Amino acid sequence: MPGLDELLSAFDFEPICFANMTQRNYDYMAHGGDSEFTLRRNREAFEWVDLIERPGVPPEAVDPSTEVLGIKLAYPIFIAPSTRQRDCHPDGDAGMYQGATAAGTPMILASGSSIPIQRVAEAATGPRWSQFYPIENLTTAREQLELFQTHGARAIVVTVDQQASNYERDLHDRNLGGSPRPAGGRGAAPPRPTRGPGQYGADPRRFWYSWKYLDDIRPFVKGHLLVKGIVTAEDAKICVERGVDGIIVSNHGGRGLDYEPSTLEVLPEIVDAVRGKIPVLVDGGFRRGSDLVKAMALGASAVCLGRAPRWGLGAFGPAGVQRLLEIVQSEFRAAMATTGRRTLAALDRTAVRTNFP
Ligand SMILES: Cc1cc2nc3c(=O)[nH]c(=O)nc-3n(C[C@H](O)[C@H](O)[C@H](O)COP(=O)(O)O)c2cc1C
Repeated sequence: MPGLDELLSAFDFEPICFANMTQRNYDYMAHGGDSEFTLRRNREAFEWVDLIERPGVPPEAVDPSTEVLGIKLAYPIFIAPSTRQRDCHPDGDAGMYQGATAAGTPMILASGSSIPIQRVAEAATGPRWSQFYPIENLTTAREQLELFQTHGARAIVVTVDQQASNYERDLHDRNLGGSPRPAGGRGAAPPRPTRGPGQYGADPRRFWYSWKYLDDIRPFVKGHLLVKGIVTAEDAKICVERGVDGIIVSNHGGRGLDYEPSTLEVLPEIVDAVRGKIPVLVDGGFRRGSDLVKAMALGASAVCLGRAPRWGLGAFGPAGVQRLLEIVQSEFRAAMATTGRRTLAALDRTAVRTNFP
């Protein structure tokens, strides 16, 4: 197995992470919805955006720093929220937080973190937000939001997407022997409900959302409130009108509705609709520094990384997260230098040429 210092790009961490995990846990992380078209499209979209080389600036003269909702960032990078980080490494979310803090990267902790938030909070000191899935009962919602904020979440990210999800990759694993299927025991496919959304393979917890819910929970959020899962200009405008403090353009890493467009494709129209009123973050398929430069040129305020830092965690624990982030940061700086941009303010749409189909 190669050592940490031998890895050259985020992609190099994935096979090592894979080797350290069960097939079943790896596939939970890797899968997308249905035919996984959107999962693939999130990556393909980077091939439809060219970077334009200009007279360069020395990489050490590049200043990629910015500020997002009161957080000063050396690079415009966040860790996207994701569940089951203990699948990757025993330190789970606490290890992710340590590695992220060591690389100067804020983390968004998933509401369903595999380590209790109290223990994650003790693991490091960097800026941290908490992600939250709408809970219909407002008393329960308030209690969960209070818990997150008491333990240091500086902002709340409300995830509004992933209304349904059918992960055929996991079903094939069961059926084709990728993981054992003891009858009725651990690892067995749960029987499909005969009533409600579950009978259609849909998550029964998520079919009641309305925009008004954001108003309902707003009094429970002391700091900033962001909405994650926006893929249209129309919804972005609604968020601005409702007083949301920021949005994350996301299709849940291709884990929700299949055949949604890639996030990179819809980013420009969303940026145009928001007109600089609130920060527009984006996630979905980001692996290389040059990927991030493309999104920043198209108007993103910052980029969130989902699977990539999990590969770092799975391969080498917190040190792997830190190293992977440092590689992406270094690539980002180099790509900015080659496009001749000294600051993020100078990184505008003339730095790219889009060839979306
Ligand atoms: C294993 C896994 C679990 C996830 N869990 C959550 C979650 O609990 N809440 C959430 O808002 N997003 C969740 N996401 C979506 C990520 O926040 C993010 O949108 C996505 O991973 C970005 O795409 P990328 O993995 O290609 O970077 C999860 C993603 C993965 C891969």
